[in-house]
Amino acid sequence: MSTRSVLAGSAILVAIAAILARDRVFFPAYPECRTIPGDAAWPDISAWTKLNDTVGGKLIATVPIAAPCHKILNGAPNSLYDEEQCAVLRDHWHFPETHLSSPSSPMSYLFSNNTCNPWSDPDTPCTTGTDAVYVINATEVSDIQEGVRFATENNIRLVVRNTGHDYLGKSTGAHSLSIWTHKLKSIELLGQYSSSEYTGPAIKMGAGVESLEAYKFAASHDLVVAGGNCPTVAMAGGFIQGGGHGPLASKYGLAADTVLEMEVVTPTGQYVTASARENADLFWALRGGGGGGTFGIVTSATVKAFPDTYGSTASMMVANTGDNADALYSAIGGFIQKALPGLVDAGAFVVWIAAPFGFMVSPAVAPGLTSAELDKLMQPMVDILKEAGLEYQYSSAQHKNFLASFEFYSQGTSWNVSDYNVGGRLIARALALERTDELVEAVRHISTTAFMSGVSYNVAHGVASPGDVAAHPYFRKTLFGLALGTPVNYTDWSATLAGQERITHDLIPALERLTPGGGAAYLNEANFEQGDFQRTLYGDHYGRLLEIKRKYDPESIMYARTAVGSEEWKERGDGGLCRTQ
Ligand SMILES: Cc1cc2nc3c(=O)[nH]c(=O)nc-3n(C[C@H](O)[C@H](O)[C@H](O)COP(=O)(O)OP(=O)(O)OC[C@H]3O[C@@H](n4cnc5c(N)ncnc54)[C@H](O)[C@@H]3O)c2cc1C
Ligand SMILES: *[C@@H]1O[C@H](CO)[C@@H](O)[C@H](O)[C@H]1NC(C)=O
Ligand SMILES: *[C@@H]1O[C@H](CO)[C@@H](O)[C@H](O)[C@H]1NC(C)=O
Ligand SMILES: *[C@@H]1O[C@H](CO)[C@@H](O)[C@H](O)[C@H]1NC(C)=O
Ligand SMILES: *[C@@H]1O[C@H](CO)[C@@H](O)[C@H](O)[C@H]1NC(C)=O
Ligand SMILES: *[C@@H]1O[C@H](CO)[C@@H](O)[C@H](O)[C@H]1NC(C)=O
Repeated sequence: MSTRSVLAGSAILVAIAAILARDRVFFPAYPECRTIPGDAAWPDISAWTKLNDTVGGKLIATVPIAAPCHKILNGAPNSLYDEEQCAVLRDHWHFPETHLSSPSSPMSYLFSNNTCNPWSDPDTPCTTGTDAVYVINATEVSDIQEGVRFATENNIRLVVRNTGHDYLGKSTGAHSLSIWTHKLKSIELLGQYSSSEYTGPAIKMGAGVESLEAYKFAASHDLVVAGGNCPTVAMAGGFIQGGGHGPLASKYGLAADTVLEMEVVTPTGQYVTASARENADLFWALRGGGGGGTFGIVTSATVKAFPDTYGSTASMMVANTGDNADALYSAIGGFIQKALPGLVDAGAFVVWIAAPFGFMVSPAVAPGLTSAELDKLMQPMVDILKEAGLEYQYSSAQHKNFLASFEFYSQGTSWNVSDYNVGGRLIARALALERTDELVEAVRHISTTAFMSGVSYNVAHGVASPGDVAAHPYFRKTLFGLALGTPVNYTDWSATLAGQERITHDLIPALERLTPGGGAAYLNEANFEQGDFQRTLYGDHYGRLLEIKRKYDPESIMYARTAVGSEEWKERGDGGLCRTQ
């Protein structure tokens, strides 16, 4: 080795040492991985008891909800084993309510890691697995602050959970302390909210208020708010923080577009208001740019409320008989081209489904339109079906107000939320209208073996400019979001994993191929294994979001898969969370 290269080599070493030294200065106490149970640094029982005292006895030690189905729990004989209770649990497993009321069970089965399976043999052991280890059942701001402080001081993974709906498993986390905001149920009418941006009625709601609860409260004041199509997603939780589309989206925009202010405990423990006047950067980020669990723990949101109105709903069904498949998919193309744009531009929100059984519209919701007006907007599809000789069922109805519309179409719908692995993609209007055949080919490829829904809206006018809120700018040119699912097989975990593989390596790529190097996905309805998630889920907003993340969470206390800044962490196979940089 020449003297010169030795010198160059040592210069590099000096440079590396300087970088390490600099890192030491900036990150004094940063261990590489979060502490997990079994580590010497994991707090002992007395420390947890002390935390429990500071939160008024609201600390819950997690018991997996399927514990009654197993004789061994976390390596010890399980006194909770109870066949009857297990049978009841299995019957109710598929419904959101089962997991909603649990402090820790994720609705999306994949993220349970199959470590406490209600269908497996009772002799197979049950472990806490990927559930949080402890949960704070928060009812006060100070409960949240204490949780953040404890997690920070003890280097423990912090998770925020509300309803547990998250399709990307972001509201659960192995070896974590979780803050559960489900019980923050306050709700009040601010009759005359006034700021430089907006004057009019507003509703202030705690983070735990679910869509249907907000709809009911608003209806009692002859008002509506922009909530979800699913009755149980928490408005101010991952829904608004991820963007949030629902039955009023084509009228009022994304739910995030309607937010006036939010109250937040930041990752450094401060309790702040985020609005156009205070902490405006945080306010921007919280409206669609985090998907929750990123910039702080939201305790409330104040949203615009709009006058209630009559409306109508419609539904349609065309069966795939096998023989009619060519005609059916061609009709789906016709529906996308000739019916959908008119529907969403008239203020309707349309969910259509393509699956092995056929095609459905379930529902079309048209606030402020009569059923005759809605029928007219659906007529192009009726004509296409008649022309093609395809048999169909169609019905429509008119309702006195928004709540009546919502209850009419959502009653009896079983969401079976736990039964699918999910992925998704946003489809731009230009793509849908100009390259319909290619799109329909991809839809056919996916829906002959998987379940797919197209959630259609026009939110272009929700904000004056797409950069006004952090939600992906792609929403403004979207005609529908496609969400697809492969079934969970409770008795064959490898089949469930294979279904997820298919989403990542076959089904989503079929859609990605339509927009090489571009395109986007809705962060709440995306594949958790989405590559290049920064661009795909956040678009041009990512750089600014990362700056805001670093400002409010300088120690990266909050981590959620695919969230802004999550590239600083990697999950180990055993669930441990370690720094990548
Ligand atoms: C059956 C079903 C139907 C759905 N329908 C719709 C729909 O119509 N429209 C739509 O836009 N989306 C829909 N979604 C997606 C939904 O918006 C997301 O799953 C959303 O993240 C749910 O938020 P949550 O707070 O209720 O759920 P959780 O799973 O509890 O939380 C989701 C994320 O938000 C974070 N979070 C929760 N609460 C807070 C808080 N208080 N402060 C900070 N972070 C928080 C969590 O850490 C997590 O990252 C649906 C999902 C399901 C399963
Ligand atoms: C916290 O305290 C309450 C009330 O004393 C108790 O019921 C609960 O079991 C405690 N939680 C833990 C994890 O010890
Ligand atoms: C998840 O499951 C795998 C395979 O069974 C196991 O190795 C891993 O430890 C589990 N992770 C957790 C956090 O339980
Ligand atoms: C959480 O707290 C509420 C009171 O705010 C209580 O009604 C509920 O039972 C608690 N849940 C659990 C699981 O401890
Ligand atoms: C949902 O689950 C219930 C209960 O197991 C079942 O009867 C029903 O067929 C399921 N629905 C769908 C759409 O999978
Ligand atoms: C689940 O897997 C088992 C075993 O491979 C298989 O027998 C069963 O039919 C599968 N169930 C479903 C609903 O696909």
